[in-house]
Amino acid sequence: MAPQEPVQSNDNEFESALERAWQTQHDNHAGAVADYIPELSKANPDDFGLAIATVTGKIYAIGDTEIPFTIQSISKAFAFCLALEVAGPELVASRVGVEPSGDPFNSIMFDPGTNRPFNPMVNAGAIAVAGILYEHLGADAFDFMMERFSDAAGRPLSLNQAVYRSEAETGHRNRAIAHLLLANEALAVPPDDALDLYFRQCSINVTASDLARMGATFANMGTATDTKMPAFDLAAVRSTLAVMFTCGMYDYAGHWAFDVGIPAKSGVGGGIVGVVNRQLGIASYSPRLDPKGNSARGVGAFHSLTDHFGLHAFDCTNIGSSFISSLIR
Ligand code: DON
Repeated sequence: MAPQEPVQSNDNEFESALERAWQTQHDNHAGAVADYIPELSKANPDDFGLAIATVTGKIYAIGDTEIPFTIQSISKAFAFCLALEVAGPELVASRVGVEPSGDPFNSIMFDPGTNRPFNPMVNAGAIAVAGILYEHLGADAFDFMMERFSDAAGRPLSLNQAVYRSEAETGHRNRAIAHLLLANEALAVPPDDALDLYFRQCSINVTASDLARMGATFANMGTATDTKMPAFDLAAVRSTLAVMFTCGMYDYAGHWAFDVGIPAKSGVGGGIVGVVNRQLGIASYSPRLDPKGNSARGVGAFHSLTDHFGLHAFDCTNIGSSFISSLIR
């Protein structure tokens, strides 16, 4: 029998970090499942999963990482990235800003200087982005979005019809926002078309494993890590990560940047996706939300993982561009 090669594996590092993060949050029962969209209230409050996907195509997971839930506001980051590619940054900038608002996700406040939504991560900005996609792709916009999201996840995703119907029936505040966008010329298509796309994109089913892979696709500059499918445009990924860093966690975004320090996006379905540039996608799923609308266990688990691995963008172990390092040596 040939002598066995010694196994060089970092698998245990990821697995034990996930286990530790999961344990720190398992008994955290704080928060409540979203019920303002009636269909969302059917989620099992105890579900809890964490996943890490690497840019080399590996995935590590613990808990309920194969349970489907709707992507909700996490779709806003990926849709913004597609709008930048399809319509170009100038047109996008003429409809939506990139300024953190400090407001809740469903705020009706626009930037008083521009009469535009503050950023694409609040509902107003995301509906403007859906309008841009509809303006450029028409009735094909949702299929286009589905295809790219699926490429990023590495498998075909599907629409949760029940959540879509529930959103469309009850989204009166979003309808008000869409009409204000039209009045302010931040929307160039009928409000119902932008809203329908927005409600659909929020109702795409994903698992925590899917979200981790989608995050890893961003970390990998837009190319899916296992299938090598190009899902997103390189320059658009950079811009999207910047907006996720400053605006992705709503009125908790400042605390998140301070404590966790990676671009991220949350959704009221209970998911959070985080991106460690050029390295990892991280995802959590637990549907109990804190008062800001972020998954309570998810926020705690990300704190644990960032501390364990030193993921914060300004951690002392992150030394930045090797080009600059070579110049200042
Ligand atoms: O606009 C809405 O109400 C939802 N479809 C999306 C909201 C969402 O996920 C906000 N996130 N925390």
